[in-house]
Amino acid sequence: MKGFLFLLLTCSLVVVASAGNFYQDFDITWGDGRAKIPDNGHLLTLSLDKASGSGFQSKSEYLFGKIDMQIKLVPGNSAGTVTAYYLSSQGPTHDEIDFEFLGNLSGDPYTLHTNVFTQGKGNREMQFKLWFDPTEDFHTYSILWNPGHVIFMVDGTPIRDFRNLESKGVAFPKDQPMRIYSSLWDADDWATRGGLVKTDWSKAPFVASYRNFKADACVASSSGASKCASNGAPGSNNGWWNQEVDSTGQERMKWVQKNYMIYNYCNDFKRFPQGLPPECSIA
Ligand SMILES: *[C@@H]1O[C@H](CO)[C@@H](O)[C@H](O)[C@H]1NC(C)=O
Repeated sequence: MKGFLFLLLTCSLVVVASAGNFYQDFDITWGDGRAKIPDNGHLLTLSLDKASGSGFQSKSEYLFGKIDMQIKLVPGNSAGTVTAYYLSSQGPTHDEIDFEFLGNLSGDPYTLHTNVFTQGKGNREMQFKLWFDPTEDFHTYSILWNPGHVIFMVDGTPIRDFRNLESKGVAFPKDQPMRIYSSLWDADDWATRGGLVKTDWSKAPFVASYRNFKADACVASSSGASKCASNGAPGSNNGWWNQEVDSTGQERMKWVQKNYMIYNYCNDFKRFPQGLPPECSIA
């Protein structure tokens, strides 16, 4: 724990609870007008057509936090489309925490792809189906990132827990501030059934929608003392800072992983003939 406090004191952080205005919190970064912020900043839509996709990124960089976003994915025949929603730092040794939604033919399920990069190295894919139709309504996709865990959640249900196992030699994202990024793009060379199903451009434009962004987080800033500490984020009764998957959450996560997980790198012995990555075998 001392290491974390030292880090916080050296990094100039401010805790903020930011309750979603997309104008305030995000910049549209590409798509030439295809990304829009209607409804006074309460909604953001990305669209994709044959010429281009679109994307946005957060104005702030975060170092730990609980970040919620409600997303309604491209409905109908979304085969070939990918909606990426992730946190990432910059540079060749960057850290990254990914949600990626791979579209499908009407009536066929989306694939939710997750990954964690530390020090520029990923290869930690886990994929899921969802237990609801993610195109019919908004659902909340959350990343809880604190010094002990990166927990992926869907509507409050933990689906994946990447633990801090630095003491066992596994790198953990903990000192590179990350921005939030999202984009909607075409990946029909691989996304749907390994590229067999192509994007049907007669259905374009494809649209994904975002609302109710909430970041309970430490924001990295270039000036000022550590307000993260004094505002209580690393303190005892601050919810997200010390949060782990509790016993109810463990049960839910087991249920998801048993019934909805379709790929887990930790079970892919063929891919790692030298042996599975160390975090896979640490109980
Ligand atoms: C699309 O649906 C098919 C059939 O259910 C399934 O095999 C596939 O994994 C689904 N997802 C993607 C992204 O192809």
